[in-house]
Amino acid sequence: MSRQAVLFESVHAVADAALLAAGLTLSRHAGALAPAELHPALADAAVAGIRSRTKMTEAALDAAPNLLTLGCFCIGTNQVDLGAAARRGIPVFNGPFGNTRSVAELTLASTIMLMRGVPRRSLAALRGEWQKSADGSHEVRGKKLGIIGYGNIGSQLSVLASALGMHVYFYDVEPKLAHGNARSVASLDELLEKSDVVTIHVPSLPSTANMIDAAAISKMKPGAIFINQARGDLVDIEALCAALESGHLAGAAVDVFPVEPASKSEAFVSPLQQFENVILTPHVGGSTLEAQAAIGEDVARKLARFIQQGTTKGAVNVPNIDPGPLAPGRTRLLSFHGNAPGYLTRLNDAISASGANVAAQHLETSGDIGFVAADLEGDLPAAFIDHVRALDGSVRARLVS
Ligand code: NAI
Repeated sequence: MSRQAVLFESVHAVADAALLAAGLTLSRHAGALAPAELHPALADAAVAGIRSRTKMTEAALDAAPNLLTLGCFCIGTNQVDLGAAARRGIPVFNGPFGNTRSVAELTLASTIMLMRGVPRRSLAALRGEWQKSADGSHEVRGKKLGIIGYGNIGSQLSVLASALGMHVYFYDVEPKLAHGNARSVASLDELLEKSDVVTIHVPSLPSTANMIDAAAISKMKPGAIFINQARGDLVDIEALCAALESGHLAGAAVDVFPVEPASKSEAFVSPLQQFENVILTPHVGGSTLEAQAAIGEDVARKLARFIQQGTTKGAVNVPNIDPGPLAPGRTRLLSFHGNAPGYLTRLNDAISASGANVAAQHLETSGDIGFVAADLEGDLPAAFIDHVRALDGSVRARLVS
């Protein structure tokens, strides 16, 4: 009987090809299901695909006894109990780069719109006013763009902004390869002081909470523009409002907020709504059809590779191993186990007792879990996999051939 992949929340259709090619049958649910419907839907799933609204709790994992792997067709994995999945030997994959370009494009577009004073003029035009003047309007060419966080998005933005003739500076806590003519600066203060546009692209961490506060904003040039399309807790929103109110900042684009509505039916309330020189968007920086497709392909390929080869490279909760394609005539044993001394000895004793020859073996451990991929040559007794599953410390084991 072929294995089943169950996809929720209208995962992009491009995912189907890789999953079908891995020998899976597909079943789809358009939305995110509540536990009462979700749990029965997972009963036969070998692979599950979700986006951000399906809560994959420990109870949901318990309802999925056949689940081998879980794909989050999005960036975040907060909706999954990652520890519970790891303890069951279930690798969880996501698509961390699929929407990088989409965010970078929106940041660049926001930069141009704010430098031209478009939000204010557009609102006036909608009201029937004709604000035709060059006051406060600038080209971006030749202006200084300061990027805080030169990771996937920051560095992609750097390339796009350079192509428009901007002078790009960046600040990162890690050493980073500068793209094109971009230059790193020694401190956040230096970046804030020299940039015409400051944009932040760092993760939400205890060390980055409120890193753009009143003191940081006061170091920005008078008339500078500030953009936050990363996370809502990076910026002191009251301090940002005060700087817009006083005119110290000429404009801001904000896509992420300290408190965001949980759904379309909730009202969106922000003190930034009083300003006409802002662009406010509902956390859509990464939300494009292209990003959905890129994520669909990326995550489906990772799920398929795990099913076919046991590759956990890119998994966010278990040790990463990439044992590569399986050579003809070999059988690959995939064994998740508790990370405690003695398991490998017991496993190798079981392999020796089977009469098989170990052609290759990969082991990684992390936290409480270990993962072994062993390529075996020779005919294995039918009872071999049950023997491995019964070993002290074994969490989950299967064979790929
Ligand atoms: P990334 O992990 O590739 O890059 C983040 C960079 O920030 C790294 O280079 C890291 O060294 C640096 N960093 C960390 N702490 C720092 C600090 N205190 N000061 C300076 N640099 C620091 O992340 P990526 O993919 O570029 O994402 C960046 C942000 O964008 C994240 O907050 C992410 O959640 C957000 N995001 C927002 C989306 C939206 O829809 N608005 C969509 C996708 C990502």
